[in-house]
Amino acid sequence: MDLLKEIKYLKEKKNFIFIGHNYVEKNILDLCDYNGDSLGLAKVAQNINKEKNILFIGVDFMAETMKILNPEKRIFVANKSATCPMANSLSPEKLLYFKSKFPNYSIVLYVNSTAECKRYADCVCTSANAVEIVNAIDNNNILFGPDKNLANYVKEKTKKNVLAIPGEDGFCYVHDSIENNSLNLKSFSDFNLIVHPECKKNLRDKSFKVGSTGQMPKFISENLDKKYIIGTEIGMVDVLKNMFENVEIIPFNNEAICHDMKKNKLEDIYNVLNFEINEILLDRNLINDSRRSIINMFKLME
Ligand code: 13P
Ligand code: SF4
Repeated sequence: MDLLKEIKYLKEKKNFIFIGHNYVEKNILDLCDYNGDSLGLAKVAQNINKEKNILFIGVDFMAETMKILNPEKRIFVANKSATCPMANSLSPEKLLYFKSKFPNYSIVLYVNSTAECKRYADCVCTSANAVEIVNAIDNNNILFGPDKNLANYVKEKTKKNVLAIPGEDGFCYVHDSIENNSLNLKSFSDFNLIVHPECKKNLRDKSFKVGSTGQMPKFISENLDKKYIIGTEIGMVDVLKNMFENVEIIPFNNEAICHDMKKNKLEDIYNVLNFEINEILLDRNLINDSRRSIINMFKLME
């Protein structure tokens, strides 16, 4: 069977739109109607006609966010086992423990968190707006999770009293260790380094810009005559090379791979289209509770 041909046929026949995160494999991203960062994709879903079915290709918390913001739409995930270990490092039990221990702190959660945790947060943020959101919160004391590196970045930029939760265990294995076996920056002094805020401080301090995968194209488009080294998951390097064919762009580390993002395969997509499996179904109360913290983020950004 020609999988690609079948997928294209079923996509049309069953009225599906494909939305994929920047880190999925290139042959999968090529099939997507939209690609982008975690928040950008949730916003895209809001503008899609209700009659369309949405297939999300990425990891589970992103699809959950999409469903929370679009409860009336049918949203499917390509591969149900594709998850984010960093998001899973903070359980609702741990979060409630910190909430009771620090009752005067506001809770800001990175969008890379479970819906079960988002329901207890005062506000959600993304890697693109974390500093802006924490600055806008009317409290100097902030519990921030689950990424300790992003928490540290936010603390540094806002000068607020930011406490990372759950603490040492909250990090992205791809970004936290991206300096291992990476290229030697000293040999590329004519390149500008752009990194994701999930990277450690040491690397952020050496960079030209720090930002989300959605912000990286903006940084490059502002300086098209420069050369760039990209410090994030390897899939993003392909996305940027595709967007800026005449700009020299190289990866900081060829082995920076998010194995969960790469779990999404053509066979999975075919199975969802053919059998209509893997639909995201969330409890109505969970949707309403967790939606509040996401809507608060939009309000604070206005
Ligand atoms: P972005 O929102 O920047 O795409 O980041 C999502 C993510 O999981 C980074 O590792
Ligand atoms: Fe999670 Fe890291 Fe993968 Fe992003 S790259 S989805 S933070 S494990």
